[in-house]
Amino acid sequence: MAASSFLSAITRRLEGKVAVITGGASGIGGCTAKLFANHGAKVVIADVQDELGHSVREDIGQSNCTYVHCDVSNEDHIRNVVDKAIDIYGKLDIMFNNAGITGPHKPRIIDNEKADFERVLAINVTGVFLGMKHAARVMVPAKRGTIISTTSIVSIIGGAAAHAYCCSKHAVLGLTRNLAVELGQFGIRVNCVSPYGVSTPLALEYVGNEDQVEMVFNTAATLKGVTLKTEDLANAALFLASDDAKYISGHNLLVDGGFTVNNAALNIFKYPQDS
Ligand SMILES: NC(=O)c1ccc[n+]([C@@H]2O[C@H](COP(=O)([O-])OP(=O)(O)OC[C@H]3O[C@@H](n4cnc5c(N)ncnc54)[C@H](O)[C@@H]3O)[C@@H](O)[C@H]2O)c1
Repeated sequence: MAASSFLSAITRRLEGKVAVITGGASGIGGCTAKLFANHGAKVVIADVQDELGHSVREDIGQSNCTYVHCDVSNEDHIRNVVDKAIDIYGKLDIMFNNAGITGPHKPRIIDNEKADFERVLAINVTGVFLGMKHAARVMVPAKRGTIISTTSIVSIIGGAAAHAYCCSKHAVLGLTRNLAVELGQFGIRVNCVSPYGVSTPLALEYVGNEDQVEMVFNTAATLKGVTLKTEDLANAALFLASDDAKYISGHNLLVDGGFTVNNAALNIFKYPQDS
């Protein structure tokens, strides 16, 4: 059964919408592609991992999903993906700029190579800029659409990721806010989602396996007793993409269980262990 049949027409929140999802072959993007399709959207997955991208397409069902090879840092590729969405499905309602990399984890700035820094910015910042630009190209004349980008808790705090990654995610927040102002006059909403740590191949690059990753994130988390999953980020993107968020624009939706509002060093709310 195709994924889109799981929910009834009444409960589908993206019925008739067309979405492009960059980084849709894996992790948060792959999960979001499936959820969007479940909610009635036609989905174009844009990624550099062709085999994985095709397998997500198979899971969703070929009639509701297309895979396009796309390096988000290449403007011709992004232009092509947006044009494919228009050619195949007739329009673009949702652009989800989600592709990203962390780059080498070298905490000391003096150990960081310029080329590595520039590569992270090329994908995480220029890639999002290009996704926004080409979405705007077709959304502005249509006076319709919503643009969502994946940033991170490090869009608003320091000390939790390498320099290039932190800087790139701050930049995505800046782009989001600026574009929300520009495109508001056309009725186009622009938002971003900021995940706390979640077990995906990106996170696994640094910590051995899924259990270890979740243990590390859960230990540092403010909100205890739950583990952040890719489904939680997909649900956040679904909310922002749907009419439930019809008056939300320029927003950074933190999905972090309160992590970024906690000054852990000064936490005055420590309970005695036996209470
Ligand atoms: N996992 C986390 O803990 C976490 C936390 C905060 C933010 N994020 C962000 O979430 C987003 C999704 O990452 P994820 O955790 O699902 O990791 P992931 O590695 O599972 O997914 C990232 C996807 O982006 C694709 N990609 C990488 N470079 C690309 C390029 N040049 N062009 C097109 N696609 C490219 C990859 O092939 C992959 O499919 C990223 O922007 C990441 O920075 C992740």
